[in-house]
Amino acid sequence: MSKTALITGASSGIGAVYAQRLAARGHDLVLVARRAERLAELATELQQAHGISVRTIAADLSVETGMASIETVLRNEEIDLLVNNAGMGPIASTADLSDEAAAQTLALNVTALMRLTRAALPGMRARKTGAIVNVGSVMAFHAMPATSLYSATKAFVLTYSRAIQQEVQADGVLIQAVLPAGTITEFYDTAGVPIANFDQSAFMTAEQLVDAALAGFDRSEEVTLPSVHDLDLWNTYDTARQNLFGGTQNGSPAPRYQSA
Ligand SMILES: NC(=O)c1ccc[n+]([C@@H]2O[C@H](COP(=O)([O-])OP(=O)(O)OC[C@H]3O[C@@H](n4cnc5c(N)ncnc54)[C@H](OP(=O)(O)O)[C@@H]3O)[C@@H](O)[C@H]2O)c1
Repeated sequence: MSKTALITGASSGIGAVYAQRLAARGHDLVLVARRAERLAELATELQQAHGISVRTIAADLSVETGMASIETVLRNEEIDLLVNNAGMGPIASTADLSDEAAAQTLALNVTALMRLTRAALPGMRARKTGAIVNVGSVMAFHAMPATSLYSATKAFVLTYSRAIQQEVQADGVLIQAVLPAGTITEFYDTAGVPIANFDQSAFMTAEQLVDAALAGFDRSEEVTLPSVHDLDLWNTYDTARQNLFGGTQNGSPAPRYQSA
């Protein structure tokens, strides 16, 4: 029986390529985004090319009704693979970012991803199979001006994914955090700084990004870093992270904070 994948943010960029690649692998699809016409065009193309079934749902995942509609699908239908890809990253200093953009970013990048993950998990655990791909960013471990909220939301995606992986690993469910670096999509136009302002020689295409992410998925990677060539850097960083937590904490303040 064919498997069904639900992809958020499937109307452009990385999400649209996930749809193409998963269709080519024979998955039936549920495609979610706000732009219904784009989803409909993609659905027609993929149905014709791959003979799969594709359903589209126009939903704004930054508002209650949109989140709730997709939660209902995930709770009531057998979705084998959830790709939490929809995201936004307005580029502005923290004080200059509008209240509306800040709230929308938090709702989409954090609340929607959290709610859809929680809606998908019970069925996957009960069936003892399934996977959730959470699209984060290398900004999860990088803090810089003008992207404070975006980086923080992506740090959430990474930590949330890794913790859940520990909860469900005995249930045959995979949680994969995919951390793209610069990727050529509409993301930067939406962010308010057109991609032409960046050195695109340091960017990969959405096709390269998704193909690398799926290679990691096929290896059951919990964290996939398509742009990081030297994996030792990540391993050193991650070992330091674990040692920082468990290595030297002993219940008393560090000597540098104790008065002489
Ligand atoms: N491009 C990069 O350099 C880069 C780097 C690191 C991480 N990422 C991450 O990759 C993911 C995909 O981004 P992308 O680069 O492919 O950008 P993109 O082309 O702008 O795609 C974003 C997708 O999210 C959807 N979306 C945006 N707001 C939404 C909302 N309120 N409700 C529902 N869907 C919404 C958009 O569809 P509608 O507008 O039709 O709703 C679109 O399909 C994001 O999570 C992003 O943070 C991108």
